[in-house]
Amino acid sequence: MHVDINRDPKLAKADHLFVILAEGDRELDVAPALRTLVDDAVRDAGFSGRGDESVTLATKAPKRTTLIGVGKRDAVSLRTMKGSLYQVGKLARKQRSKNIVVIWPYTLPGHDAESTLRLAADLLSHVDYKYAEFITVKVDDKPYPIDATLVAPQAVDAKRAKALTAEARAIAEGVRTVRDLGNAPCNVMTPAALATRANEVARAAGLKCTIYKKREIEAMKMGGLLAVNRGSVEEPRFVVIEYTPRKAKKHVALVGKGITFDSGGISIKPAEKMEEMKFDMCGAATVVGTIEAVAKLGLPIRVTAIFAATENLPSGSAYKPGEIITMMNGKTVEIVNTDAEGRMILGDALHFACRLEPDHLIDYATLTGACVVALSSEAAGIFTQDDELAQKLIESGERVGDRFWRLPLWDEYKDQIRSEWADMKNTGGRWGGAITAAVFLKEFVDCPSWAHLDIAGTAYAEAETSRDARGATGAGVRATVQWLESLL
Ligand code: BES
Ligand code: MN
Ligand code: ZN
Repeated sequence: MHVDINRDPKLAKADHLFVILAEGDRELDVAPALRTLVDDAVRDAGFSGRGDESVTLATKAPKRTTLIGVGKRDAVSLRTMKGSLYQVGKLARKQRSKNIVVIWPYTLPGHDAESTLRLAADLLSHVDYKYAEFITVKVDDKPYPIDATLVAPQAVDAKRAKALTAEARAIAEGVRTVRDLGNAPCNVMTPAALATRANEVARAAGLKCTIYKKREIEAMKMGGLLAVNRGSVEEPRFVVIEYTPRKAKKHVALVGKGITFDSGGISIKPAEKMEEMKFDMCGAATVVGTIEAVAKLGLPIRVTAIFAATENLPSGSAYKPGEIITMMNGKTVEIVNTDAEGRMILGDALHFACRLEPDHLIDYATLTGACVVALSSEAAGIFTQDDELAQKLIESGERVGDRFWRLPLWDEYKDQIRSEWADMKNTGGRWGGAITAAVFLKEFVDCPSWAHLDIAGTAYAEAETSRDARGATGAGVRATVQWLESLL
């Protein structure tokens, strides 16, 4: 959906007005003509604003008006906003509306009117998102272009509205990149293709992108990435995207896990839901989408986005349990389970990132099923020893509905990955699986401020909900952008 923020929507051009209202609310801070329209619709429909209420009326200019209730006024939240905006998308598509006007009249807790508006516009532009690249027959499933005007309070003048629109679009475009990359099928989104797409996104945003191929990866001695890659006929890639604004005071490095398909390798996964392992590159997609958003926002922070990409497959040449692998930083790893491949490629990528001496280092990875067992799809796990970083990231995520929940990174857990034959094992057994994975990663990090985000539960949705579509979600982008802005 193409969204504009504007306090004076062109009603004559619109074909569908959506008004989201809490119980008993009438006095809307909108232009008089629009208010009359809403008042009449509310009266004609006998609309009360209850949470489960939604009515569509035939009106004049625009020809349809839909009223959506969100329940009690003091229960209005980001959750209800997301749900009602998603409903707007569904109803607009169902009616094949092409030019819509949307009123969300509330300021979210922890926000002001403008930041609410920016977030609402960003979310609204995603409500009709569908990955339809490979749909050829079911034409009704194909999205069509919808223009939306999100109505701003009267105090937001045209200039501010334009600026907020541009910001919302920058973020929404970053999120879209992540969703498109993540949803693409794994025969198409190979490591080489992921690198090529990342390069295209980077170029379009005016960023420098360096792609390292197999020979260069070998020259850098990235033993973890090369070990995981051995089972695949697809070459690995290592990608670095740089955003270097002139006025930057801080440097933040973002690292992503880019397993374009995770079969488990020799320690092969069960067949059920294995197709979901095409999403195992969502961490890589997140760093690409985030740096895109940051560049389009023009934030004065230097950002480097880094990802390692390979498939994890079984074959005669695949890495196997019992091997000992020497990683880029020289440490040795005894392979116990080839399905713990994410930490192998991230170990090298994190070491590479630390050499750049960033002020902060954040990694994004669909790393463990254990993290999904702990937190489900409601929050990603955050692991860090930097309390201030944890607090800021958690707060930033909370504001934009991109949640993190902290789990420990204590050295005590290192016992579980102790190896008889090497510096460490690549798995620590069943208990605390998300934590032992994080503790493993820590062995490859020597910069002062690092956080690991396990997005296994949040990066993609197994099914559609009342607030979001199935598939890649773009989790991590909004929280990271919010956090970067908080550093300014
Ligand atoms: N990509 C998976 C983790 C995953 C599982 C992501 C479910 C999303 C949904 C990862 O590579 C993996 O296989 N992890 C293993 C680690 C184990 C072998 C120590 C796991 O979680 O079972
Ligand atoms: Mn795995
Ligand atoms: Zn994996």
